[in-house]
Amino acid sequence: MAGTGLFAEIIDGEVYKYYADGEWKTSSSGKSVAIINPATRKPQYKVQACTQEEVNAVMEMAKSAQKSWAKTPLWKRAELLHKAAAILKDNKAPMAESLVKEIAKPAKDSVTEVVRSGDLISYCAEEGVRILGEGKFLLSDSFPGNDRTKYCLTSKIPLGVVLAIPPFNYPVNLAVSKIAPALIAGNSLVLKPPTQGAVSCLHMVHCFHLAGFPKGLISCITGKGSEIGDFLTMHPAVNCISFTGGDTGISISKKAGMIPLQMELGGKDACIVLEDADLDLVASNIIKGGFSYSGQRCTAVKVVLVMESVADELVEKVKAKVAKLTVGPPEDNSDITAVVSESSANFIEGLVMDAKEKGATFCQEYKREGNLIWPLLLDNVRPDMRIAWEEPFGPVVPVLRISSVEEGINHCNASNFGLQGCVFTKDINKAILISDAMETGTVQINSAPARGPDHFPFQGLKDSGIGSQGVTNSINLMTKVKTTVINLPTPSYSMG
Ligand code: G3H
Repeated sequence: MAGTGLFAEIIDGEVYKYYADGEWKTSSSGKSVAIINPATRKPQYKVQACTQEEVNAVMEMAKSAQKSWAKTPLWKRAELLHKAAAILKDNKAPMAESLVKEIAKPAKDSVTEVVRSGDLISYCAEEGVRILGEGKFLLSDSFPGNDRTKYCLTSKIPLGVVLAIPPFNYPVNLAVSKIAPALIAGNSLVLKPPTQGAVSCLHMVHCFHLAGFPKGLISCITGKGSEIGDFLTMHPAVNCISFTGGDTGISISKKAGMIPLQMELGGKDACIVLEDADLDLVASNIIKGGFSYSGQRCTAVKVVLVMESVADELVEKVKAKVAKLTVGPPEDNSDITAVVSESSANFIEGLVMDAKEKGATFCQEYKREGNLIWPLLLDNVRPDMRIAWEEPFGPVVPVLRISSVEEGINHCNASNFGLQGCVFTKDINKAILISDAMETGTVQINSAPARGPDHFPFQGLKDSGIGSQGVTNSINLMTKVKTTVINLPTPSYSMG
Protein backbone atom coordinates (compact mmCIF):
# COMPACT_ATOMS: atom_id res chain seq x y z
CA MET A 1 0.00 0.00 0.00
CA ALA A 2 1.17 3.54 -0.76
CA GLY A 3 3.13 5.20 2.05
CA THR A 4 3.63 2.01 4.06
CA GLY A 5 6.32 -0.65 4.52
CA LEU A 6 9.46 0.31 2.61
CA PHE A 7 7.80 3.66 1.85
CA ALA A 8 6.70 4.54 5.41
CA GLU A 9 9.41 7.19 5.82
CA ILE A 10 8.14 9.28 2.91
CA ILE A 11 4.97 10.30 4.73
CA ASP A 12 4.43 12.28 7.93
CA GLY A 13 0.94 11.73 9.30
CA GLU A 14 -1.20 12.31 6.26
CA VAL A 15 1.17 14.58 4.34
CA TYR A 16 3.83 13.20 2.01
CA LYS A 17 7.30 14.68 2.54
CA TYR A 18 9.62 16.19 -0.03
CA TYR A 19 13.10 14.84 -0.76
CA ALA A 20 16.28 16.85 -0.33
CA ASP A 21 19.86 16.19 0.81
CA GLY A 22 19.21 12.45 0.82
CA GLU A 23 16.39 12.79 3.38
CA TRP A 24 12.62 13.01 3.52
CA LYS A 25 11.61 16.39 4.92
CA THR A 26 8.65 18.46 6.03
CA SER A 27 8.41 21.95 4.56
CA SER A 28 8.94 24.93 6.84
CA SER A 29 5.85 26.48 5.20
CA GLY A 30 3.64 24.29 7.37
CA LYS A 31 1.32 24.16 4.37
CA SER A 32 0.31 21.35 2.09
CA VAL A 33 -1.27 20.92 -1.33
CA ALA A 34 -4.24 18.58 -1.69
CA ILE A 35 -4.43 16.07 -4.51
CA ILE A 36 -7.97 15.41 -5.70
CA ASN A 37 -8.89 11.92 -6.88
CA PRO A 38 -10.33 12.53 -10.38
CA ALA A 39 -12.83 9.68 -10.05
CA THR A 40 -14.23 10.43 -6.60
CA ARG A 41 -13.49 14.18 -6.78
CA LYS A 42 -12.50 13.97 -3.12
CA PRO A 43 -9.09 14.82 -1.61
CA GLN A 44 -6.91 11.71 -1.80
CA TYR A 45 -3.40 12.75 -0.76
CA LYS A 46 -1.49 15.77 0.51
CA VAL A 47 2.03 16.87 -0.36
CA GLN A 48 4.32 19.56 1.06
CA ALA A 49 3.96 23.12 -0.20
CA CYS A 50 7.68 23.87 -0.46
CA THR A 51 9.04 27.40 -0.23
CA GLN A 52 11.42 29.37 -2.45
CA GLU A 53 14.06 29.12 0.33
CA GLU A 54 13.76 25.33 0.14
CA VAL A 55 14.21 25.53 -3.63
CA ASN A 56 17.38 27.60 -3.10
CA ALA A 57 18.72 25.02 -0.63
CA VAL A 58 18.00 22.16 -3.01
CA MET A 59 19.76 23.95 -5.87
CA GLU A 60 22.88 24.55 -3.74
CA MET A 61 22.97 20.84 -2.83
CA ALA A 62 22.42 19.83 -6.44
CA LYS A 63 25.32 22.03 -7.57
CA SER A 64 27.73 20.61 -5.07
CA ALA A 65 26.62 16.96 -5.37
CA GLN A 66 27.00 17.15 -9.15
CA LYS A 67 30.71 18.01 -8.86
CA SER A 68 31.58 14.69 -7.24
CA TRP A 69 29.00 12.74 -9.26
CA ALA A 70 30.72 13.87 -12.47
CA LYS A 71 33.89 12.23 -11.11
CA THR A 72 32.07 8.97 -10.38
CA PRO A 73 33.05 6.30 -12.95
CA LEU A 74 30.47 5.70 -15.65
CA TRP A 75 30.14 2.00 -14.80
CA LYS A 76 29.34 2.94 -11.19
CA ARG A 77 26.64 5.42 -12.25
CA ALA A 78 25.16 2.68 -14.45
CA GLU A 79 25.29 0.18 -11.60
CA LEU A 80 23.26 2.48 -9.34
CA LEU A 81 20.69 3.09 -12.09
CA HIS A 82 20.28 -0.67 -12.61
CA LYS A 83 19.76 -1.01 -8.86
CA ALA A 84 17.09 1.73 -8.86
CA ALA A 85 15.35 0.04 -11.81
CA ALA A 86 15.21 -3.28 -9.96
CA ILE A 87 13.86 -1.68 -6.76
CA LEU A 88 11.25 0.20 -8.80
CA LYS A 89 10.05 -2.96 -10.52
CA ASP A 90 10.05 -4.98 -7.29
CA ASN A 91 7.88 -2.31 -5.66
CA LYS A 92 5.50 -1.48 -8.45
CA ALA A 93 2.34 -1.98 -6.38
CA PRO A 94 2.36 1.25 -4.29
CA MET A 95 3.27 3.34 -7.33
CA ALA A 96 0.58 1.74 -9.46
CA GLU A 97 -1.90 2.26 -6.63
CA SER A 98 -1.11 5.98 -6.42
CA LEU A 99 -1.39 6.35 -10.19
CA VAL A 100 -4.87 4.89 -9.98
CA LYS A 101 -5.87 7.20 -7.14
CA GLU A 102 -4.33 10.50 -8.25
CA ILE A 103 -4.65 10.40 -12.04
CA ALA A 104 -7.35 7.72 -12.51
CA LYS A 105 -5.14 5.63 -14.77
CA PRO A 106 -6.62 2.14 -15.17
CA ALA A 107 -4.97 -0.32 -12.74
CA LYS A 108 -3.33 -2.50 -15.41
CA ASP A 109 -1.94 0.49 -17.32
CA SER A 110 -0.58 1.88 -14.05
CA VAL A 111 1.45 -1.28 -13.50
CA THR A 112 2.64 -1.13 -17.11
CA GLU A 113 3.81 2.45 -16.61
CA VAL A 114 6.00 1.47 -13.66
CA VAL A 115 7.48 -1.60 -15.37
CA ARG A 116 8.13 0.40 -18.55
CA SER A 117 9.92 2.96 -16.38
CA GLY A 118 12.19 0.34 -14.83
CA ASP A 119 13.08 -0.91 -18.30
CA LEU A 120 13.75 2.64 -19.46
CA ILE A 121 16.17 3.25 -16.56
CA SER A 122 18.10 0.03 -17.31
CA TYR A 123 18.23 0.74 -21.04
CA CYS A 124 19.47 4.24 -20.30
CA ALA A 125 22.24 2.90 -18.06
CA GLU A 126 23.40 0.56 -20.83
CA GLU A 127 23.13 3.16 -23.58
CA GLY A 128 24.99 5.69 -21.43
CA VAL A 129 27.87 3.30 -20.92
CA ARG A 130 28.00 2.75 -24.69
CA ILE A 131 27.74 6.32 -25.94
CA LEU A 132 29.44 8.24 -23.16
CA GLY A 133 32.35 5.82 -23.07
CA GLU A 134 33.25 6.87 -26.59
CA GLY A 135 34.63 10.14 -27.89
CA LYS A 136 36.06 11.39 -31.16
CA PHE A 137 39.62 11.68 -32.35
CA LEU A 138 40.23 14.08 -35.25
CA LEU A 139 43.42 14.79 -37.17
CA SER A 140 44.09 18.29 -38.52
CA ASP A 141 45.39 17.32 -41.98
CA SER A 142 41.92 16.39 -43.20
CA PHE A 143 41.10 20.13 -43.41
CA PRO A 144 42.64 22.03 -46.35
CA GLY A 145 45.89 23.84 -45.61
CA ASN A 146 46.73 21.84 -42.49
CA ASP A 147 49.51 19.41 -41.73
CA ARG A 148 49.03 16.70 -39.17
CA THR A 149 50.13 18.86 -36.26
CA LYS A 150 46.95 18.83 -34.20
CA TYR A 151 45.25 15.90 -32.52
CA CYS A 152 41.74 16.74 -31.41
CA LEU A 153 40.07 14.72 -28.63
CA THR A 154 36.38 15.25 -27.93
CA SER A 155 34.14 13.75 -25.30
CA LYS A 156 30.77 14.48 -23.74
CA ILE A 157 30.61 16.15 -20.35
CA PRO A 158 27.65 16.88 -18.06
CA LEU A 159 25.71 20.14 -18.10
CA GLY A 160 25.34 20.51 -14.31
CA VAL A 161 21.88 20.70 -12.72
CA VAL A 162 18.94 19.36 -14.75
CA LEU A 163 15.42 20.44 -13.80
CA ALA A 164 12.81 17.81 -14.69
CA ILE A 165 9.10 18.67 -14.89
CA PRO A 166 6.95 15.72 -15.97
CA PRO A 167 3.20 15.89 -16.73
CA PHE A 168 0.27 14.33 -14.90
CA ASN A 169 -0.43 11.66 -17.52
CA TYR A 170 2.86 9.75 -17.11
CA PRO A 171 4.22 11.11 -13.83
CA VAL A 172 6.53 8.14 -13.25
CA ASN A 173 7.54 7.27 -16.78
CA LEU A 174 8.08 10.80 -18.04
CA ALA A 175 9.98 11.60 -14.84
CA VAL A 176 12.43 8.70 -15.23
CA SER A 177 12.81 9.49 -18.94
CA LYS A 178 14.40 12.74 -17.72
CA ILE A 179 16.09 11.50 -14.52
CA ALA A 180 17.94 8.48 -15.92
CA PRO A 181 19.65 10.26 -18.87
CA ALA A 182 20.54 13.21 -16.64
CA LEU A 183 22.17 10.97 -14.04
CA ILE A 184 24.03 8.63 -16.36
CA ALA A 185 25.50 11.69 -18.08
CA GLY A 186 26.87 12.97 -14.75
CA ASN A 187 24.29 15.65 -13.97
CA SER A 188 22.38 16.21 -10.76
CA LEU A 189 18.61 16.31 -10.89
CA VAL A 190 15.86 18.42 -9.36
CA LEU A 191 12.38 17.03 -9.93
CA LYS A 192 9.18 19.07 -9.71
CA PRO A 193 6.33 16.58 -10.07
CA PRO A 194 2.90 17.58 -11.32
CA THR A 195 0.48 18.03 -8.41
CA GLN A 196 -1.62 15.11 -9.65
CA GLY A 197 1.02 12.43 -9.94
CA ALA A 198 3.20 13.82 -7.15
CA VAL A 199 2.67 10.89 -4.79
CA SER A 200 3.58 8.36 -7.49
CA CYS A 201 6.70 10.44 -8.19
CA LEU A 202 7.67 10.54 -4.51
CA HIS A 203 7.48 6.74 -4.32
CA MET A 204 9.60 6.50 -7.46
CA VAL A 205 12.19 8.89 -6.01
CA HIS A 206 12.37 6.72 -2.89
CA CYS A 207 13.46 3.82 -5.11
CA PHE A 208 16.44 5.95 -6.22
CA HIS A 209 17.08 6.80 -2.55
CA LEU A 210 17.06 3.11 -1.60
CA ALA A 211 19.46 2.37 -4.46
CA GLY A 212 22.02 4.54 -2.65
CA PHE A 213 22.57 7.59 -4.87
CA PRO A 214 24.71 10.26 -3.16
CA LYS A 215 23.02 12.89 -0.97
CA GLY A 216 21.80 15.98 -2.77
CA LEU A 217 22.21 14.47 -6.23
CA ILE A 218 18.46 13.92 -6.63
CA SER A 219 15.83 16.17 -5.08
CA CYS A 220 12.09 16.20 -5.37
CA ILE A 221 10.35 19.41 -4.52
CA THR A 222 6.54 19.64 -4.37
CA GLY A 223 4.26 22.62 -4.14
CA LYS A 224 2.15 25.14 -5.94
CA GLY A 225 3.28 26.14 -9.42
CA SER A 226 2.17 29.70 -8.64
CA GLU A 227 4.68 29.88 -5.76
CA ILE A 228 7.67 27.89 -6.95
CA GLY A 229 7.06 27.28 -10.68
CA ASP A 230 8.75 30.35 -12.19
CA PHE A 231 11.23 30.41 -9.33
CA LEU A 232 12.41 26.92 -10.29
CA THR A 233 12.48 27.39 -14.05
CA MET A 234 14.27 30.76 -13.82
CA HIS A 235 16.68 29.66 -11.11
CA PRO A 236 20.27 30.60 -11.97
CA ALA A 237 21.57 27.20 -10.81
CA VAL A 238 19.57 25.33 -13.46
CA ASN A 239 21.62 24.28 -16.50
CA CYS A 240 18.94 22.39 -18.46
CA ILE A 241 15.15 22.07 -18.34
CA SER A 242 13.31 18.98 -19.47
CA PHE A 243 9.58 19.71 -19.46
CA THR A 244 6.56 17.80 -20.69
CA GLY A 245 3.16 19.42 -20.54
CA GLY A 246 1.01 22.06 -22.16
CA ASP A 247 1.71 25.52 -23.49
CA THR A 248 3.23 26.55 -20.13
CA GLY A 249 6.34 25.18 -21.80
CA ILE A 250 6.28 28.05 -24.29
CA SER A 251 6.40 30.63 -21.50
CA ILE A 252 9.09 28.62 -19.68
CA SER A 253 11.22 28.65 -22.82
CA LYS A 254 10.77 32.40 -23.24
CA LYS A 255 11.92 33.05 -19.67
CA ALA A 256 14.70 30.45 -19.47
CA GLY A 257 18.25 31.61 -19.89
CA MET A 258 20.84 30.34 -22.36
CA ILE A 259 20.43 26.69 -21.42
CA PRO A 260 19.43 23.56 -23.35
CA LEU A 261 15.70 22.91 -23.31
CA GLN A 262 13.86 19.68 -23.95
CA MET A 263 10.14 20.36 -24.28
CA GLU A 264 7.18 18.29 -25.38
CA LEU A 265 4.02 20.36 -25.35
CA GLY A 266 1.26 18.24 -26.84
CA GLY A 267 -0.06 17.50 -30.28
CA LYS A 268 -3.04 17.28 -32.57
CA ASP A 269 -1.99 13.99 -34.09
CA ALA A 270 -3.72 13.38 -37.39
CA CYS A 271 -4.66 9.97 -38.72
CA ILE A 272 -4.84 10.08 -42.52
CA VAL A 273 -6.81 7.19 -44.01
CA LEU A 274 -6.54 6.41 -47.74
CA GLU A 275 -9.03 4.44 -49.85
CA ASP A 276 -6.91 1.30 -49.92
CA ALA A 277 -6.39 1.14 -46.13
CA ASP A 278 -7.23 -1.96 -44.11
CA LEU A 279 -10.25 -0.42 -42.37
CA ASP A 280 -10.36 -3.01 -39.57
CA LEU A 281 -6.77 -2.16 -38.73
CA VAL A 282 -7.58 1.56 -38.88
CA ALA A 283 -10.61 1.14 -36.61
CA SER A 284 -8.60 -0.77 -33.97
CA ASN A 285 -5.91 1.88 -34.09
CA ILE A 286 -8.40 4.71 -33.71
CA ILE A 287 -9.76 2.98 -30.62
CA LYS A 288 -6.29 2.29 -29.17
CA GLY A 289 -4.86 5.61 -30.31
CA GLY A 290 -7.84 7.82 -29.54
CA PHE A 291 -9.35 6.33 -26.42
CA SER A 292 -6.61 4.65 -24.37
CA TYR A 293 -6.19 6.43 -21.03
CA SER A 294 -9.33 8.30 -22.08
CA GLY A 295 -7.46 10.22 -24.77
CA GLN A 296 -5.14 11.89 -22.24
CA ARG A 297 -1.96 11.25 -24.21
CA CYS A 298 0.01 13.78 -26.22
CA THR A 299 0.26 11.12 -28.91
CA ALA A 300 -3.44 10.26 -28.98
CA VAL A 301 -5.19 10.22 -32.35
CA LYS A 302 -6.79 13.67 -32.16
CA VAL A 303 -8.25 14.00 -35.62
CA VAL A 304 -9.15 11.41 -38.25
CA LEU A 305 -8.82 12.63 -41.86
CA VAL A 306 -10.51 9.96 -43.94
CA MET A 307 -11.16 9.79 -47.67
CA GLU A 308 -14.87 10.36 -48.27
CA SER A 309 -15.28 7.11 -50.25
CA VAL A 310 -14.40 4.91 -47.25
CA ALA A 311 -15.60 7.23 -44.46
CA ASP A 312 -19.04 5.63 -43.91
CA GLU A 313 -17.56 2.16 -43.59
CA LEU A 314 -14.80 3.31 -41.26
CA VAL A 315 -17.15 5.29 -39.02
CA GLU A 316 -19.42 2.23 -38.68
CA LYS A 317 -16.48 0.03 -37.69
CA VAL A 318 -15.22 2.54 -35.11
CA LYS A 319 -18.76 3.03 -33.74
CA ALA A 320 -19.10 -0.71 -33.17
CA LYS A 321 -15.85 -0.77 -31.23
CA VAL A 322 -16.70 2.35 -29.19
CA ALA A 323 -19.87 0.56 -28.07
CA LYS A 324 -17.69 -2.14 -26.49
CA LEU A 325 -15.54 0.25 -24.44
CA THR A 326 -16.17 -0.02 -20.71
CA VAL A 327 -16.66 3.16 -18.71
CA GLY A 328 -16.08 3.38 -14.97
CA PRO A 329 -13.55 3.38 -12.13
CA PRO A 330 -9.83 2.91 -12.82
CA GLU A 331 -9.69 0.24 -10.11
CA ASP A 332 -11.90 -1.95 -12.35
CA ASN A 333 -9.61 -1.50 -15.35
CA SER A 334 -12.34 0.35 -17.21
CA ASP A 335 -11.27 1.48 -20.67
CA ILE A 336 -12.60 4.97 -20.07
CA THR A 337 -12.05 6.58 -16.68
CA ALA A 338 -12.57 10.07 -15.26
CA VAL A 339 -10.43 12.78 -16.86
CA VAL A 340 -7.90 14.40 -14.59
CA SER A 341 -9.89 17.39 -13.31
CA GLU A 342 -13.16 19.21 -13.45
CA SER A 343 -11.62 22.04 -15.46
CA SER A 344 -10.34 19.52 -17.97
CA ALA A 345 -13.81 17.94 -18.25
CA ASN A 346 -15.34 21.41 -18.70
CA PHE A 347 -12.87 22.22 -21.45
CA ILE A 348 -13.68 18.97 -23.29
CA GLU A 349 -17.39 19.70 -22.92
CA GLY A 350 -16.83 23.16 -24.42
CA LEU A 351 -15.27 21.60 -27.53
CA VAL A 352 -18.11 19.09 -27.82
CA MET A 353 -20.81 21.79 -27.49
CA ASP A 354 -19.09 23.96 -30.09
CA ALA A 355 -19.09 21.00 -32.52
CA LYS A 356 -22.76 20.38 -31.72
CA GLU A 357 -23.76 23.98 -32.44
CA LYS A 358 -21.87 23.88 -35.72
CA GLY A 359 -23.52 20.67 -36.89
CA ALA A 360 -21.16 17.74 -36.24
CA THR A 361 -22.75 14.28 -36.30
CA PHE A 362 -22.76 12.63 -32.87
CA CYS A 363 -22.16 8.88 -33.26
CA GLN A 364 -23.06 8.40 -29.58
CA GLU A 365 -25.06 10.46 -27.18
CA TYR A 366 -22.87 12.90 -25.21
CA LYS A 367 -22.78 11.78 -21.60
CA ARG A 368 -20.89 13.13 -18.59
CA GLU A 369 -21.00 12.42 -14.86
CA GLY A 370 -18.56 14.54 -12.87
CA ASN A 371 -15.16 14.11 -14.52
CA LEU A 372 -16.26 10.97 -16.33
CA ILE A 373 -17.00 11.54 -20.02
CA TRP A 374 -18.31 8.67 -22.14
CA PRO A 375 -16.34 7.94 -25.35
CA LEU A 376 -17.54 10.03 -28.25
CA LEU A 377 -16.91 9.87 -31.97
CA LEU A 378 -17.84 13.02 -33.87
CA ASP A 379 -18.39 12.59 -37.60
CA ASN A 380 -18.65 15.28 -40.30
CA VAL A 381 -16.47 17.67 -38.34
CA ARG A 382 -15.54 20.74 -40.35
CA PRO A 383 -12.53 23.07 -40.14
CA ASP A 384 -14.63 25.84 -38.58
CA MET A 385 -15.13 23.74 -35.44
CA ARG A 386 -12.70 24.12 -32.52
CA ILE A 387 -12.39 20.33 -32.15
CA ALA A 388 -10.78 20.24 -35.62
CA TRP A 389 -7.76 22.13 -34.22
CA GLU A 390 -7.66 22.00 -30.43
CA GLU A 391 -6.57 18.98 -28.41
CA PRO A 392 -9.38 17.77 -26.14
CA PHE A 393 -7.13 15.55 -23.99
CA GLY A 394 -10.24 13.48 -23.41
CA PRO A 395 -12.21 10.59 -24.94
CA VAL A 396 -13.51 12.50 -27.97
CA VAL A 397 -12.33 11.77 -31.51
CA PRO A 398 -13.35 14.01 -34.44
CA VAL A 399 -13.61 12.69 -38.00
CA LEU A 400 -13.09 15.04 -40.94
CA ARG A 401 -13.97 13.69 -44.35
CA ILE A 402 -11.49 14.65 -47.07
CA SER A 403 -11.69 14.43 -50.84
CA SER A 404 -7.95 14.29 -51.53
CA VAL A 405 -4.75 13.30 -49.79
CA GLU A 406 -3.53 16.89 -50.25
CA GLU A 407 -6.51 18.14 -48.25
CA GLY A 408 -5.50 15.83 -45.39
CA ILE A 409 -1.86 16.90 -45.50
CA ASN A 410 -2.88 20.58 -45.64
CA HIS A 411 -5.10 20.16 -42.60
CA CYS A 412 -2.35 18.41 -40.69
CA ASN A 413 0.23 21.05 -41.62
CA ALA A 414 -2.06 23.99 -40.85
CA SER A 415 -2.04 22.95 -37.18
CA ASN A 416 0.22 24.84 -34.79
CA PHE A 417 1.16 21.42 -33.40
CA GLY A 418 3.53 18.94 -35.03
CA LEU A 419 4.11 16.01 -32.69
CA GLN A 420 3.15 12.82 -34.51
CA GLY A 421 0.77 11.70 -37.20
CA CYS A 422 -0.12 8.48 -38.92
CA VAL A 423 -1.13 7.28 -42.34
CA PHE A 424 -2.99 4.12 -43.26
CA THR A 425 -2.50 2.69 -46.76
CA LYS A 426 -1.25 -0.51 -48.35
CA ASP A 427 0.88 1.53 -50.77
CA ILE A 428 4.25 2.02 -49.09
CA ASN A 429 5.41 4.48 -51.76
CA LYS A 430 2.44 6.75 -51.08
CA ALA A 431 2.96 6.34 -47.34
CA ILE A 432 6.55 7.54 -47.57
CA LEU A 433 5.57 10.55 -49.68
CA ILE A 434 2.84 11.47 -47.19
CA SER A 435 5.22 10.96 -44.27
CA ASP A 436 7.70 13.33 -45.92
CA ALA A 437 4.96 15.90 -46.47
CA MET A 438 3.58 15.84 -42.91
CA GLU A 439 5.17 18.48 -40.68
CA THR A 440 5.38 16.35 -37.55
CA GLY A 441 8.26 14.95 -35.52
CA THR A 442 7.21 11.36 -36.26
CA VAL A 443 4.86 9.69 -38.73
CA GLN A 444 3.65 6.16 -38.08
CA ILE A 445 2.75 4.08 -41.10
CA ASN A 446 -0.19 1.73 -40.46
CA SER A 447 -0.25 2.24 -36.71
CA ALA A 448 -1.48 4.86 -34.26
CA PRO A 449 0.98 7.46 -32.96
CA ALA A 450 3.02 6.45 -29.91
CA ARG A 451 6.19 7.55 -28.17
CA GLY A 452 7.54 4.07 -27.43
CA PRO A 453 9.55 1.98 -27.56
CA ASP A 454 11.32 4.44 -25.30
CA HIS A 455 14.64 4.36 -27.13
CA PHE A 456 13.05 5.70 -30.33
CA PRO A 457 13.58 9.42 -31.00
CA PHE A 458 10.55 11.46 -29.93
CA GLN A 459 10.19 15.12 -30.81
CA GLY A 460 7.66 17.74 -31.71
CA LEU A 461 7.87 20.36 -34.42
CA LYS A 462 6.31 23.83 -34.16
CA ASP A 463 4.42 24.40 -30.87
CA SER A 464 4.75 20.70 -29.99
CA GLY A 465 8.20 21.29 -28.59
CA ILE A 466 11.92 21.55 -28.98
CA GLY A 467 14.73 19.08 -28.46
CA SER A 468 14.41 15.40 -29.18
CA GLN A 469 13.67 12.75 -26.56
CA GLY A 470 14.16 9.00 -26.51
CA VAL A 471 16.98 7.50 -24.48
CA THR A 472 19.93 8.28 -26.78
CA ASN A 473 18.82 11.78 -27.72
CA SER A 474 18.07 12.66 -24.11
CA ILE A 475 21.55 11.60 -22.98
CA ASN A 476 23.09 13.66 -25.79
CA LEU A 477 20.89 16.68 -24.99
CA MET A 478 21.96 16.56 -21.35
CA THR A 479 25.65 16.76 -22.20
CA LYS A 480 27.95 19.23 -23.91
CA VAL A 481 30.99 18.58 -26.03
CA LYS A 482 34.45 19.16 -24.56
CA THR A 483 37.51 19.26 -26.79
CA THR A 484 41.20 19.02 -26.02
CA VAL A 485 43.69 19.68 -28.83
CA ILE A 486 47.24 18.37 -28.66
CA ASN A 487 49.49 20.64 -30.71
CA LEU A 488 52.65 19.06 -32.07
CA PRO A 489 55.81 21.03 -32.94
CA THR A 490 56.24 19.06 -36.18
CA PRO A 491 53.77 17.14 -38.35
CA SER A 492 53.40 13.53 -37.28
CA TYR A 493 52.20 10.90 -39.77
CA SER A 494 51.84 7.30 -38.76
CA MET A 495 53.85 5.11 -41.13
CA GLY A 496 52.53 2.02 -42.86
O1 G3H B 1 1.53 12.17 -23.37
C1 G3H B 1 2.64 12.18 -23.86
C2 G3H B 1 3.42 10.96 -23.90
O2 G3H B 1 4.73 11.25 -24.27
C3 G3H B 1 2.81 9.93 -24.80
O3 G3H B 1 3.41 8.71 -24.57
O4 G3H B 1 2.76 7.51 -26.66
O5 G3H B 1 3.65 6.27 -24.70
O6 G3H B 1 1.38 7.28 -24.64
P1 G3H B 1 2.75 7.37 -25.18
